[in-house]
Amino acid sequence: MNVPVPLIPDNAPFTPEQRAWLNGFFAGAFSRTAGAPAAVAAPQALAPLTILFGSQTGTAENLAKKVAKEAGKRGFAPMILDMAQTDLAKLGAEKNLLIITSTYGDGEPPDNAKALHTALKAAIEPSALSPQLSAVRYSVCSLGDTNYAQFCQCGKDLDAWFEKLGATRITPRTDCDLDYDAAFIAWLDAALKALGTGPASVTGGGDPGPGSASPATAEETGYSKKNPFPAPVLTVRNLNGAGSAKEVNHVEFSLEGSGLAYEAGDALGVIPHNCPAQVGEVLTALGCDGEEAVPTPAGELPLRRALTECFDLGKPSAELIAFVGGALRPDAAPESGHKAPPTLNATPHHVIDVLLAAPAKPSPAEFVAKLKKIQPRLYSISSSPKAHTGQVHLTVGAVRYDKDGRARKGVCSTFLAERALAAGKVGVFVHSNKAFRPPVNSDLPMIMVGPGTGIAPFRAFLAERRATNAKGKNWLFFGDQKSSCDFLYQDELRELQTAGYLARLDVAFSRDQAEKIYVQHRMLEHAVELYAWLESGAHFYVCGDASRMAKDVDAALHQVIQQAGNKSPEEAAAYVQALKAAKRYARDVY
Ligand SMILES: Cc1cc2nc3c(=O)[nH]c(=O)nc-3n(C[C@H](O)[C@H](O)[C@H](O)COP(=O)(O)OP(=O)(O)OC[C@H]3O[C@@H](n4cnc5c(N)ncnc54)[C@H](O)[C@@H]3O)c2cc1C
Ligand SMILES: NC(=O)c1ccc[n+]([C@@H]2O[C@H](COP(=O)([O-])OP(=O)(O)OC[C@H]3O[C@@H](n4cnc5c(N)ncnc54)[C@H](OP(=O)(O)O)[C@@H]3O)[C@@H](O)[C@H]2O)c1
Ligand SMILES: Cc1cc2nc3c(=O)[nH]c(=O)nc-3n(C[C@H](O)[C@H](O)[C@H](O)COP(=O)(O)O)c2cc1C
Repeated sequence: MNVPVPLIPDNAPFTPEQRAWLNGFFAGAFSRTAGAPAAVAAPQALAPLTILFGSQTGTAENLAKKVAKEAGKRGFAPMILDMAQTDLAKLGAEKNLLIITSTYGDGEPPDNAKALHTALKAAIEPSALSPQLSAVRYSVCSLGDTNYAQFCQCGKDLDAWFEKLGATRITPRTDCDLDYDAAFIAWLDAALKALGTGPASVTGGGDPGPGSASPATAEETGYSKKNPFPAPVLTVRNLNGAGSAKEVNHVEFSLEGSGLAYEAGDALGVIPHNCPAQVGEVLTALGCDGEEAVPTPAGELPLRRALTECFDLGKPSAELIAFVGGALRPDAAPESGHKAPPTLNATPHHVIDVLLAAPAKPSPAEFVAKLKKIQPRLYSISSSPKAHTGQVHLTVGAVRYDKDGRARKGVCSTFLAERALAAGKVGVFVHSNKAFRPPVNSDLPMIMVGPGTGIAPFRAFLAERRATNAKGKNWLFFGDQKSSCDFLYQDELRELQTAGYLARLDVAFSRDQAEKIYVQHRMLEHAVELYAWLESGAHFYVCGDASRMAKDVDAALHQVIQQAGNKSPEEAAAYVQALKAAKRYARDVY
């Protein structure tokens, strides 16, 4: 029997530390006893294990729960710890520590890991260096994406710095790409074995044998990333008006009968299919008709279907580039007198660019063996289950651009825009993000900064506040290019204002005038009031572009606090840090 692990509700009267400890304890206890916590030995009889996570969008946090569950089966008393809730001194008292962290920005830590990352970095300065963590045994699992130059940098930093501070690495760090399952399971199994197990009486019975770490929880029992729900597509509607340079689609799916539950602030994972025209180009470049059978993670499939459903035709893998490099060696060069082959661009953008530059074409099986698996894309959910029963909505910006003389398009955003309705059903799963939620105390004000598609979760938050008749005031900063055609959900927002659920709506249309006006300019114009809202307990949220907007909004927030709160830059930084520590400053940026 698979009994769900009980979780302490976010609004239960516990501190974050207490809640983390209890959640870890229950995860461990339930995994050992299949739902009979009364039979569990007292936690102090078990080997202590702290699972420290750094997470921006919930993946590492979800994996931390899986670690707790598996560790519980193996005789540990696991405690899940948010990096924002600890510091160097507290970590020094840990005995067994498993660390899971993602990387954001350009090799930066996720928001909840920033303070700890900064503290560790300062502690390894030669002038400060001391073996502060010498009692700690640890191992790091870092989550990342090989499409980023600074792959898994935060995990690499923490791994190196813990060692410098005297901690003992019990197993080597594992760096996970987006397809992290196998690497994560192998890391977890090795790390738990290296840490050893607790008393045999606790771990006995139906415990898994060596090498059988199986972190699946709800994933085994229902629809999940591994088993996506084929959701009927109800609507795909362009939100832009005539004259817009943007293409943002409102997409609605039915979740009826799926058993899937989500909360405002969660994201939806979408399983895309590649564009048939792009698959056709690849087939032509390979000289194939698409009927050739090739091995795939889903078994043997015809090449056309494999390229449509299973493999990533975007950024080429290092293996594919290396293979073509081999093909370009002199012994593989075309016979003299033939036209010189196109040379491989230093950084081929897509798989097709590599194929077009390759003088010797790989066989279909060789080719697919060098492709990465197609990955789901995450979208911030723009509906509330309390207001949009049985449905889930997204707000999706279509990615289209030209590069190296070729029209390019984003896989998933254009799959949703062009083919999802015709497909009828699309594979989806819920990706929970507990760090991004409306305030538990619904009387508290919310300030939301969400330009462009960044408005998505705030449509959900506002719908939720309305459905629950929450009393807290709501303030939205929205921006996009032109008011005439890019004011996403304008009618809904105006109606929310009229109904009293949106106390303030400040908009910044960047291309309505000669100079750029952005959301952060509006924040600064209203600094005094914004600061007053913060002082009255408001939660501050940012969603949308990570590379420029979120950084500028963060800088503007500091400026608002300096100006309106009459604070020095250092005091403003401390104020912002306190907001983050109190979980009153949350970002969902991409
Ligand atoms: C937690 C989270 C929430 C998100 N929420 C939303 C949301 O609510 N709405 C939304 O629209 N998106 C959202 N995204 C982004 C979304 O997941 C996808 O990344 C986005 O839709 C693009 O995916 P795609 O498959 O269409 O493009 P892909 O095929 O993945 O292509 C995107 C890639 O193309 C390249 N690229 C794009 N533009 C250019 C250019 N001009 N020049 C050169 N290269 C370029 C970049 O390498 C980029 O990474 C979210 C992401 C995360 C992580
Ligand atoms: N990681 C990915 O794969 C991926 C995929 C898709 C989208 N994205 C990100 O998601 C973002 C959202 O796209 P979107 O089209 O909905 O909106 P957007 O590009 O963020 O544009 C929304 C508004 O923000 C403005 N803006 C530009 N720079 C800004 C800044 N530094 N500070 C504040 N506002 C700024 C834009 O103005 P102007 O346009 O006039 O400058 C526009 O008015 C994209 O920018 C992109 O970075 C990421
Ligand atoms: C905006 C953005 C920036 C990212 N930057 C990096 C990066 O610099 N290096 C890296 O290895 N991964 C990067 N990633 C990938 C994440 O680390 C990866 O998706 C991870 O699984 C997310 O885990 P989380 O949900 O726990 O935060 C980035 C992802 C996003 C959306």
